Amino acid sequence: MTRNTDPVVKALEQALADTFTLALKTQNYHWNVTGSNFFGLHNLFEEQYNDGYAASDALAERIRALGAPAPGGLRAFQEITKIEEAKGGLDSKAMLDDLIDGNAAVAATLKTGVDVAETANDPATADMLTGRVTAHDKAAWMLRSIRG
Ligand SMILES: [Fe+2]
Repeated sequence: MTRNTDPVVKALEQALADTFTLALKTQNYHWNVTGSNFFGLHNLFEEQYNDGYAASDALAERIRALGAPAPGGLRAFQEITKIEEAKGGLDSKAMLDDLIDGNAAVAATLKTGVDVAETANDPATADMLTGRVTAHDKAAWMLRSIRG
């Protein structure tokens, strides 16, 4: 896949691929989680992947607004993302640990994207990415709290 060279578009592509891959992983854990706190985890994961998919749409449309094509397809996302796919056979605590790490990793990458957008004098993209840092910090907090 040919990637755009514009640094802001690259930061948005990274944000999109990471956000979508983490949402897909969260949805997989929504399907496969078991245990005494099934319902709480099942519902929390659903809330978080819905947020991630909605954010993916907004990030892709920001790429389009900047005049670049949005990457599509799991293979394209896999080439870009730093997030590993869902692992099979995890218990609920291991799922929570994996998602806590994933949200922290995405938040860290997004913060780099904010710097890139600010350096390029693109406050709209910086604002969008900053909002996503807030969302992933909140997601990680909720996951940590439910993990105990
Ligand atoms: Fe569901």
